[in-house]
Amino acid sequence: MRTLQVELGARSYPIDIGPGVLSRLDTQGQRCLVVSNDTVAPLHLKTLLAQLPEGTATCILPDGEAHKTLDSAGVILDALAAGGFHRDGLVIALGGGVIGDLAGFAAAVYHRGIAFIQIPTTLLSMVDSSVGGKTGVNHPAGKNLIGAFHQPRQVLADLQLLDTLPSREYAAGMAEVVKYAALGDLAFLDWLEAQTPALQARDHAVLAEMVERCCATKARIVAADEREQGQRALLNLGHTFGHAIETASGYGTVLHGEAVAIGMVMAADLSYRLGWTSLTDVERLRDLLQALDLPTRCPPIPPEQFLALMQRDKKVLNNRLRLVLLKPLGQAIITADVPPEPLQETLLAAT
Ligand SMILES: NC(=O)c1ccc[n+]([C@@H]2O[C@H](COP(=O)([O-])OP(=O)(O)OC[C@H]3O[C@@H](n4cnc5c(N)ncnc54)[C@H](O)[C@@H]3O)[C@@H](O)[C@H]2O)c1
Repeated sequence: MRTLQVELGARSYPIDIGPGVLSRLDTQGQRCLVVSNDTVAPLHLKTLLAQLPEGTATCILPDGEAHKTLDSAGVILDALAAGGFHRDGLVIALGGGVIGDLAGFAAAVYHRGIAFIQIPTTLLSMVDSSVGGKTGVNHPAGKNLIGAFHQPRQVLADLQLLDTLPSREYAAGMAEVVKYAALGDLAFLDWLEAQTPALQARDHAVLAEMVERCCATKARIVAADEREQGQRALLNLGHTFGHAIETASGYGTVLHGEAVAIGMVMAADLSYRLGWTSLTDVERLRDLLQALDLPTRCPPIPPEQFLALMQRDKKVLNNRLRLVLLKPLGQAIITADVPPEPLQETLLAAT
C-alpha cells in the first residue's frame, strides 16, 4: 500500500493507494451516508457496507453525467435531512467523478459543510477528481457551473475496484494520466511508454505506482494553489479544446477523458505551430495516447463553432482566451497571447 498526504494545513488529508485499501476507511465513529449510483452500487456497495455499522444510510442515484445536477444534489441533501444528520455527519462517495463531485458538493453545503470521504471507483477519479476539493454540479448554462471547494478527509484509491471498470472508461482515465506527464514530467512520459503493456493489463503493482505519481503531482499543485489562482490551471491542459469537443458532440458521445486526449494533441499541435515544441514531440504524445486506446482526431466541428465554444470556457478572462500550451512537451504554460492564425490552422488540421 502507498500513502501520500495532501498538505493543506488543518485540512490536510491522506490518499491511500493499492488493492484492498478500502479496509483503511476511517469513519471516526461518525454516522455516515454512502452515496453511489445504480451501476457501481450493485458491484461494490456490499463490500463497503460490510465495514460499516448495520443500517448505514445509502443514497443511490441514477448513473450518468446527465444526473450531475442540482436536483441530484437535492436528493442527497434530502437523504441527509431525512436521516437526521447533524454537523457531525459524514458523507462517503463511492463512484466515479460524477458521484464524487455530487456527494462532495452536498457535503460542502449541508450544515455549511460536513466531512466527506472519497472512494473513487474509476481511473479518472483516482488520479484526478477525488483529490483537490473541487465539487459541483452542471447547469444548462455550463458544466460545473455551480460548485464549492470542499476538501475530503480521506481518499481511498482501491485498485481492486478498477477490475470491473469498462475498457473505454479505463482508457478515458489514462488521458488524465498522460496529462500529468505532458504538463510537467517527461520522465513519467518515458515510464508510461515503457509500461504501456502492463497498464493495458491493469497490473496492480504498476497501477499503484502510476496512481501515486499522478496523485503526488496533483497534491503538490493543489497544496500550492488550492483555489486555482495560478498554477492549478495547468491541470487544464487539453481541457479548453476538450470541453468544446464534449459540448459540440453532446455530452456522453465523447467521454471527458477522450475529449481531453484529443484536446491535448490539439494543444501540442498549436504549440508546434507557435514554434514551442517539435513535431516529433507532437507525434510522441499522439502515439502514446493511441497506444492507450484513446482517440486523437477531433470529430468534425466547424471552426467558428469550435471557437465560440472555447470562448465560453471558464478560463476566459477579460474576454481573452487563455490556453494551456506546451513550451516544450513536459512543460506546460498558460498563455493569453495566441494569435488567431495558428489557432485556426490547428482547428482545421484537427479533424
Ligand atoms: N472535481 C474535480 O476536480 C474533477 C476533475 C476531473 C473530472 N471531474 C468530473 O468527473 C466526472 C467524470 O468522472 P468519471 O470519468 O469518473 O465518470 P463517471 O463518474 O460518470 O464514471 C464513468 C462510468 O463508469 C461507471 N463506473 C464507475 N466506477 C465503476 C466501476 N468500478 N466498475 C464499473 N463501472 C464503473 C460509472 O457508473 C459511469 O457509468 C465529470 O463530471 C467531470 O466534470 C471532476
